[in-house]
Amino acid sequence: MYKQELAIIVQSIIESNTISDHVKCAKTLSDFYSRLSSVKHSIQNEVSVKGGIALSSSGAADCVDDYLRTIYFIKGIYNAITKLTADFPERSINILYAGCGPYATLILPLLPMFNKERINAILLDINAESIESVHHLLKVTGLNEYSLQLIETDAITYTKPKDFTIDLAISETMHYALTREPQVAIVKNIVKQLPPHGILIPEEIRIDLAYTFLDHEPSLKNAIDEVKSYNQMQPYPHHVFVDRLFTINKELSSISHYSKFESDFYNLPENFAKIPDVCIFTEIKVFEDIELKTAESYITNPYCVVSLYSINDWSKIQLIYDFSEIPKWSYNVNALK
Ligand SMILES: C[S@@+](CC[C@H](N)C(=O)[O-])C[C@H]1O[C@@H](n2cnc3c(N)ncnc32)[C@H](O)[C@@H]1O
Repeated sequence: MYKQELAIIVQSIIESNTISDHVKCAKTLSDFYSRLSSVKHSIQNEVSVKGGIALSSSGAADCVDDYLRTIYFIKGIYNAITKLTADFPERSINILYAGCGPYATLILPLLPMFNKERINAILLDINAESIESVHHLLKVTGLNEYSLQLIETDAITYTKPKDFTIDLAISETMHYALTREPQVAIVKNIVKQLPPHGILIPEEIRIDLAYTFLDHEPSLKNAIDEVKSYNQMQPYPHHVFVDRLFTINKELSSISHYSKFESDFYNLPENFAKIPDVCIFTEIKVFEDIELKTAESYITNPYCVVSLYSINDWSKIQLIYDFSEIPKWSYNVNALK
């Protein structure tokens, strides 16, 4: 019964193509999960790892309510699995899902869309309660007939089994501007284990530097009643794009050997009354043409590294992103000559 209900929900997600439809479908999915969950998820089981903080099971459950994030990821993953099943018609598709949370939101709803012989998945989470919750959901929905392994482990150090060639790797373990959560450390570990044909989702996370006025930029504060598409928002007209700092993708070229990224030095604006904030903007290419732009989700909200009012004797700035522990941004400045 639940499996059928989920199949109807996910079908509506795949078919939905307006923001209001996306929101409606995401709410239905969120209600479905709340009804099926047997326990109240804990807010106290955050885990600190070398690379970031893994959300509590309650925090991870709440991610389903980041509506456009949830819908765009599910759509992108559906397209990626569909592509892989067409590319490899003779065998099952191996999926590694790192950081599944208590709902396995990005894969569980899609299972009824595919024949169980075509899916072979490993789901990881560092949080024991989240793994327990996914076991429960699979049991009550009858989706435990699929070939799924649930493993409580750290995805930053996890090594896949030798006979498991990853066709699709999924991880959404990020906060805006890649701060706080361990997305980069996890992706760095996964891409080492991904074969050339393997798909990484998200395919790209683009990190840009801009001078702007943060308070005038679009920012998602409350998804329940203010989700908009980027096209419906009023971008701040004086926003100055400075540079793309790096992109996280399968190649991971700019930061693959380090736990730190250091940018070039950029000229600071002399007159900054209209653009006082040095900000990081995040965009996500989930898969192919499915993208999350600024402020369409909490994870693509803009982030201010520093206000120019506090560094106005300086002429150039360098941005540093360090993900060796809890990921964070800092900066260096050059003095005026
Ligand atoms: C932002 S939540 C997303 C949950 C779910 N995948 C979704 O998209 O709704 C991230 C999840 O990744 C897990 N996680 C974070 N770091 C991890 C790590 N190093 N190893 C395994 N799981 C991790 C957290 O415990 C949390 O459940």
